[in-house]
Amino acid sequence: MWYDPRTEKHGLKHSPVTALVVPRPIGWISTLNPAGKVNLAPYSFFNMISGYPPWLMFSSAPKKNSQTNAELTGEFTFSLATWSLREVMNASSAEFPDDVSEPEAVGIEMAPSRNVKPPRVAASPVSIECKYYKTVDLVASDGKPNRSHLVLGEVVGIHIDDSVIVDGMLDVRKMQPIARMGYMDYNVVNDYFTMARPGDYDPRAREENT
Ligand SMILES: Cc1cc2nc3c(=O)[nH]c(=O)nc-3n(C[C@H](O)[C@H](O)[C@H](O)COP(=O)(O)O)c2cc1C
Repeated sequence: MWYDPRTEKHGLKHSPVTALVVPRPIGWISTLNPAGKVNLAPYSFFNMISGYPPWLMFSSAPKKNSQTNAELTGEFTFSLATWSLREVMNASSAEFPDDVSEPEAVGIEMAPSRNVKPPRVAASPVSIECKYYKTVDLVASDGKPNRSHLVLGEVVGIHIDDSVIVDGMLDVRKMQPIARMGYMDYNVVNDYFTMARPGDYDPRAREENT
């Protein structure tokens, strides 16, 4: 099958769009609102978009509190959503009134960050602190503004729990990240395979985008 999502219906039982590019990592984003309340929400249109130096991006559609807070306060954090945190991650996606702090409402402990004010999820093995850079408002080729906004952030701090470091490398089997599939589906990463690059190129030994 083929269709142009701008002008045609897919004809399937459910839209396939969220199942097309999978698995998607989940950006569990914390921010502070201008009154200092902690906001925490998952965003699967999310990724690390550059490694050296590291930068992150999440996409809000439409503009939601995490985007607003990042723009107003200039900071956000990412925490890795893992198998053991799956239920609380999902609970934090509910719509809460502005004066309610999601971590308090869903009962998740936060830990302080170092270079930014928004705290991180204490039980997450990896958290990343970001300074907000800019928002890219997507505009379609016909000039119509889109409801999606890309929020970009520069990485200014990285927390790694020592328990997931084995032989000087992060062990994904200890981290057990979860990822978003389409529909209501997720997967959990608890295994991997290793494949050498052609030639003698060893990405482990280089600090550059690879
Ligand atoms: C796994 C998961 C992934 C999500 N990904 C996105 C996303 O990429 N973009 C988005 O706008 N909302 C996404 N949502 C919905 C937001 O988490 C939800 O609208 C939340 O209430 C937004 O909170 P905020 O207004 O405090 O930022 C996702 C929800 C879940 C459970």
